[in-house]
Amino acid sequence: MRIKFGTYKPEEGPEEVPVYWDSAKVMNSHFTVIGPSGSGKTTRLRRLMAGMALVNPKIRFVVLDPHGDMGVTGEDSFRFSTTSELGLNPLIVREDPDYGGVTRAIETFIKTISRTSRPLGSKQEHTLHNILLDLYAYLGFHADRPETWNYRFDDRHNPEMSKRHPTVKTLKWFMERKLTQVFLGTSSETVAALDDLSRKLRSMDRAIKKEIRGEETSVDVDKLKDKCRELFERFLEGMNDGQEVSALFRYGNKDVLQSCYERICNLERSGLFRADTYVFDPSAPIWRYDLSALSSDGQRMAVDFILDEIFSTARGEGQKPETEIFILLDETHKFITSEPDHIISVLAREARKFGLGLILSSQNLTDFPDEILAQMGTKFVLGVDPIFLDRAAKKLKVDTRRLERIQTHKSSIIAIKNKGDSGTRWLDMTLV
Ligand SMILES: Nc1ncnc2c1ncn2[C@@H]1O[C@H](COP(=O)(O)OP(=O)(O)OP(=O)(O)O)[C@@H](O)[C@H]1O
Ligand SMILES: [Mg+2]
Repeated sequence: MRIKFGTYKPEEGPEEVPVYWDSAKVMNSHFTVIGPSGSGKTTRLRRLMAGMALVNPKIRFVVLDPHGDMGVTGEDSFRFSTTSELGLNPLIVREDPDYGGVTRAIETFIKTISRTSRPLGSKQEHTLHNILLDLYAYLGFHADRPETWNYRFDDRHNPEMSKRHPTVKTLKWFMERKLTQVFLGTSSETVAALDDLSRKLRSMDRAIKKEIRGEETSVDVDKLKDKCRELFERFLEGMNDGQEVSALFRYGNKDVLQSCYERICNLERSGLFRADTYVFDPSAPIWRYDLSALSSDGQRMAVDFILDEIFSTARGEGQKPETEIFILLDETHKFITSEPDHIISVLAREARKFGLGLILSSQNLTDFPDEILAQMGTKFVLGVDPIFLDRAAKKLKVDTRRLERIQTHKSSIIAIKNKGDSGTRWLDMTLV
């Protein structure tokens, strides 16, 4: 596939010559399009996509569209919204024995919500992890038994419902059940006694350790022991069925579980998560997720979950010699992080082998981690704000004057790295 991007004037001749992007020659199919607001990134991406779809109808584009302004004719699109009955289900367990499974689903879910909205504390992570493990087991998916990682195989005895993947809604319901059963079902004094006891035991432990080391301690260990005995008796008297102890280990205290529950309620309200997902038309070359109705946290979650899903599916299908799917992410500066295990970094490094190309556009070059920028086979600069000129020139390793000379909507600079090229060669390109 060969696409004409524009023209440039080589040093050795008077004529402008075309600049082609040739899929057979390029190092990879990753692009980055950089320019300030209004410089024409979205317009360029739409044109690029329409051009490629025309040349090679077998290619699929998956567009993640934060502004909702990337629509093109011939596409199939889905708009996330609080009123839609469809959304994403991040709790689906993938069957792949290497890249799927319950533990991976739990880890991805926890990591993604922690990264894309307020970070979870370590106690919350621990609690949520165990709640999810228990929910999956309750629904018949066992972390240590890959044969259970699908909805067909069901060896639960007397299940209350047919086997289904959990959803954020099921998780919320399960947490409500746990909160009621385990913590509220027991009298509040029992719970208080148990909390108190664990605190006293910890201070006793610290005091004893100090005594062993021969250090002074103001704690009267014998008195503390008596207090513990008393609290333990009070706890035993109030206990119902012994679930309280295991719950304390698995779910932390009531406050931690309650705070996790509130986070899940917020997720449910985001309008992003549903049991059923939109099924795109397989004959449409362009599949567009319109994210414009989501909050910025919601957009970040959607992007991470969708990218993870695309990558897991591609990896499950194995290596491919050619790019079959292009992922377009507009406004990448809103989503990118410098963490090496973040899905955009992973895709930049590994997606090529699995037939994926990444097309990232960004207003802000300085937000782009060097590690990701270095993986982009084609870099396209439509302009740089004067404030960022020096920093951008340094980052791109190009003369500041060439960046200054870019004329909005008329010219750009471009570097296309072909196989075997060493270094980066920038061309001053007139746009077509
Ligand atoms: N090559 C061009 N020639 C003339 N007008 C253009 C060109 N490219 C884009 N425009 C116009 O410039 C305006 C801004 O373009 P566009 O929305 O693509 O910018 P953008 O870089 O995506 O901005 P933002 O970062 O704010 O999303 C639009 O009205 C578009 O029609
Ligand atoms: Mg735009």
